[in-house]
Amino acid sequence: MASADHPVLIVGGDGLIGRALHESYRAAGVPCLATSRRAGQHPRLDLAALPETWELADSYRAAFLCAGRTKLADCEAYPAETALINVTRTIELARKLGERGAFIVFLSTNLVFDGNKAFPTVDDAPNPTTSYGQQKAEAEKILRELGERVAIVRLTKVVHPAMPLLLDWAGALRRREVIHPYSDMVFSPIPLEYVSRALQSIASCQTGGVIHLSAETDISYESLAHSLATRLDVSPDVIQPQLAPAPTPRFGTLRLRTEDAALLKPPAAAETIRELLSTVK
Ligand SMILES: NC(=O)c1ccc[n+]([C@@H]2O[C@H](COP(=O)([O-])OP(=O)(O)OC[C@H]3O[C@@H](n4cnc5c(N)ncnc54)[C@H](OP(=O)(O)O)[C@@H]3O)[C@@H](O)[C@H]2O)c1
Repeated sequence: MASADHPVLIVGGDGLIGRALHESYRAAGVPCLATSRRAGQHPRLDLAALPETWELADSYRAAFLCAGRTKLADCEAYPAETALINVTRTIELARKLGERGAFIVFLSTNLVFDGNKAFPTVDDAPNPTTSYGQQKAEAEKILRELGERVAIVRLTKVVHPAMPLLLDWAGALRRREVIHPYSDMVFSPIPLEYVSRALQSIASCQTGGVIHLSAETDISYESLAHSLATRLDVSPDVIQPQLAPAPTPRFGTLRLRTEDAALLKPPAAAETIRELLSTVK
């Protein structure tokens, strides 16, 4: 159990998933610290800064590695700079946290796979096609060498009501403006709230190894746009699909291990989208 002497640590508490985890632990009264790289915030931890500057306690029950450069375009444009954060320093931090007793939960992605095969399993070899995916696969490989006290959790697309794309489209549709969703780009949606619960459960059971969290199917961005238009009672005429500028992965799904599917059952994609759109006013 986490205690004041052995709190849970969330690295990257200002990000989407880190913030959700922090709020949930706080609401449950679990001793929990969330790092920030922002001035005046504590514990301060900037992966771009030297490890000696990281504000770490002596002991942790569990640590979630949620910080990193998460924009695919940034990883392509600045491979060395982003690899320093997403691989080198992340590994260095994991080692330090391991020495402090933490069970480590590393957040990874379906993009460690090329997306040519639906439902890759945890035993399939990663074959990333993007710098972001390569960095995640590299970090995974080294983290796996740290042993059983590390969980590598590969997530598909985490959706939530404040998604910029959803808000932009909703605004445009209300103004009856044309939108151009990609007809050839898919995602396997999992809700932020589910991800937060599943991660907490993994940390609490201290189940190591590679874990997949995914919906049971993919959804295209075009179909999301149509569902949104229906929800807002806007004519589908304003939806003008287009092809993505570059070829995109055919599949975004992951196969859950049988034991995880029983414990961490994700909602069906259609239910996730229905819930998501119910929040759009
Ligand atoms: N969201 C998804 O759909 C999804 C899917 C698969 C995997 N993941 C993985 O899950 C993890 C969390 O994702 P997320 O969506 O919560 O990401 P996010 O919202 O982009 O948050 C990333 C966090 O990392 C922090 N960060 C960036 N550079 C840093 C540095 N040099 N030192 C310390 N912190 C730094 C950011 O700080 P600032 O807030 O100060 O910029 C931000 O708080 C990531 O590893 C991501 O790759 C996410």
